Amino acid sequence: MISFKNAIRFFLVCAVFGSVIAEPITIKFSHVTSEDSPKGKGALLFQKLVAERLPDDLKVEVYHRATLFSDAEELNALINNEVQFLAPSLSKFGSYTDQFAVFDLPFLFKDVATLQKFWRRQAGIDLLNAVSNKDIVGLAFWSNGMKQMISLDPLRSPSDARGVAFRIQNSETIKKQFETLGAKPVPMAFSASFQALKDRTVNATENTWSNFYGQKYHTVQNYVTETNHGVLAYMLVTNRTFWSSLPFDVKVELTEIIEEVTAYVNSEANEINNQARQSILASKEIELLTLNDAQRAQWQAAFDPFYEAILPNINSAILRTARIVNR
Ligand code: LMR
Repeated sequence: MISFKNAIRFFLVCAVFGSVIAEPITIKFSHVTSEDSPKGKGALLFQKLVAERLPDDLKVEVYHRATLFSDAEELNALINNEVQFLAPSLSKFGSYTDQFAVFDLPFLFKDVATLQKFWRRQAGIDLLNAVSNKDIVGLAFWSNGMKQMISLDPLRSPSDARGVAFRIQNSETIKKQFETLGAKPVPMAFSASFQALKDRTVNATENTWSNFYGQKYHTVQNYVTETNHGVLAYMLVTNRTFWSSLPFDVKVELTEIIEEVTAYVNSEANEINNQARQSILASKEIELLTLNDAQRAQWQAAFDPFYEAILPNINSAILRTARIVNR
């Protein structure tokens, strides 16, 4: 028979060794772009810093290129704690909030620096809570870059978009703007877009240079029109169940890491897109169409009817701030 004293000893040993050999908690970080995209690089840096600074507490598994969840499923998976970190594009939060519609408006943000300036304003900071009622915790905004158009046939003026099937992200705001051009917008998961462009289910799409390059769109399309007509950006999110389960000091260190990674992504994103642009153009697989001021003004004016129709649905305080920072 085991004595009372030995039983106590046994429990103490278990408690001490148990805490020493406790497994770190796993964070699954799922995203849909390539390893070399701004988001992919951010996820890898996050993994590295967590491994260096919180090795006993947390372990990050990164799933690139929609290998765990595609963008149609990932927010739901986050809410169910099947995944703990995501950085979906702001365009993909439409079923959860209408406050991000401002980021889908064409020719509103003139560049990525201005978008980042907007995030530093109170209206931007408040948007981190836009989906908190769904138990989604907004941690940071990450930028990718300015959107361009890639197509099979040249898109020089807005009338060239008439009748063209465009793969778009699942966003009502984006859908309406392509309808205004007379195009046929086809909402589709990012992971399905390359094949759809290849097999001509769609004949054009909008995205950043880094996403064109990461998906190799330039190998199956013929023209890029450098419109810089909109922004592509992300909210880094976790879920409340996971976030509130973290011990206080782990959360503090993790918050530091997130700030560092956010600074890295937001300072490197332009350069990553510039490099992707150079690589695509160096491949000579695609023709670059640039717009002079008059042509750009034509594209901008083509969205006037869209703006008239959509503005009543856009939060006016958010829009006002966006217009002020873009002055
Ligand atoms: C897209 O679907 O085009 C983008 O949201 C992909 C991404 O996450 O950058």
